[in-house]
Amino acid sequence: MNTFVWKRQVCLLTGATGGIGEAFAVALAEKGVSLILTGRNHEKLSSLLSRLPGNHTLVCADIAQQEGIEKVISVCRAKAPTMLINNAGVSETGGFTQSSASDISKVITTNLVAPMMLTQRLLPLLRHAKEAYVINVGSTFGSIGFPCHSLYCASKFGLRGWTESLMREYANSGVKFLYLAPRATRTNINSSAVVEMNKALGNQMDEPAEVAQALVTQIEHGQPRRFLGFPEKLFARINGVFPGLVDRALIKKLPTIQHFMSSTKKETML
Ligand SMILES: NC(=O)c1ccc[n+]([C@@H]2O[C@H](COP(=O)([O-])OP(=O)(O)OC[C@H]3O[C@@H](n4cnc5c(N)ncnc54)[C@H](OP(=O)(O)O)[C@@H]3O)[C@@H](O)[C@H]2O)c1
Repeated sequence: MNTFVWKRQVCLLTGATGGIGEAFAVALAEKGVSLILTGRNHEKLSSLLSRLPGNHTLVCADIAQQEGIEKVISVCRAKAPTMLINNAGVSETGGFTQSSASDISKVITTNLVAPMMLTQRLLPLLRHAKEAYVINVGSTFGSIGFPCHSLYCASKFGLRGWTESLMREYANSGVKFLYLAPRATRTNINSSAVVEMNKALGNQMDEPAEVAQALVTQIEHGQPRRFLGFPEKLFARINGVFPGLVDRALIKKLPTIQHFMSSTKKETML
């Protein structure tokens, strides 16, 4: 029997102003969750807030900065959070040598270090709840190293490993760690070159609302890991057991991937 009560949840949602974040906010607000919405753009946050049913709080903060994390945590102290969704993320694509030092730092800090910092600071508050949840939004590319996406893959592989470690470390506690891995989804994180590449490779793209529905079901069923999309979730499994098969499949696609991704950046002088 499902005993999950949405109306008791107070959720800190990062990346609330993005494509997937907005869909999460709408789905959770409709369920009666009280949200603490974060992002860096105050106008977008206010506009989202005005469209949601229920009472919510917004915090405008850059979570890639320590001050941003502190700002979010100080708002959470007054709210008794029961749930954290680490959803904010950025992507950089292109050949590895085309990535600048600041690209490397931005992707790893936003996608991996910030969720770690936020979770570490929020855990003492979450532990007051009888049952609390940390949901980390990964990616298919957290299980498959994809050419010309090396920074993003590194951040999401890290996120998946870190989540799994905490799932096991907190197994006897009231805090549940969940990992949700969407496949390509129609949002602004994907440049037009990525969209064109996906078309050329025949990769499907989901709508953000589909990802939000998957999140709701995952939480209701307490599923520790959820991978979205077929054949993506199959490839993720095959890659774990027989990576050579995926190596061979991707080498055939490499010219197409490089064709679309080489236009995204200029070569960095090393
Ligand atoms: N779309 C896909 O194809 C896809 C596939 C798999 C996984 N995902 C994952 O899904 C999550 C959401 O992505 P999305 O597709 O919704 O992307 P998006 O539309 O670009 O939204 C990204 C969100 O992250 C926020 N953000 C970025 N850097 C931030 C920072 N330093 N501080 C605070 N907030 C920051 C952005 O807020 P601002 O308003 O401040 O920019 C925005 O709300 C990400 O973790 C992404 O990796 C996406």
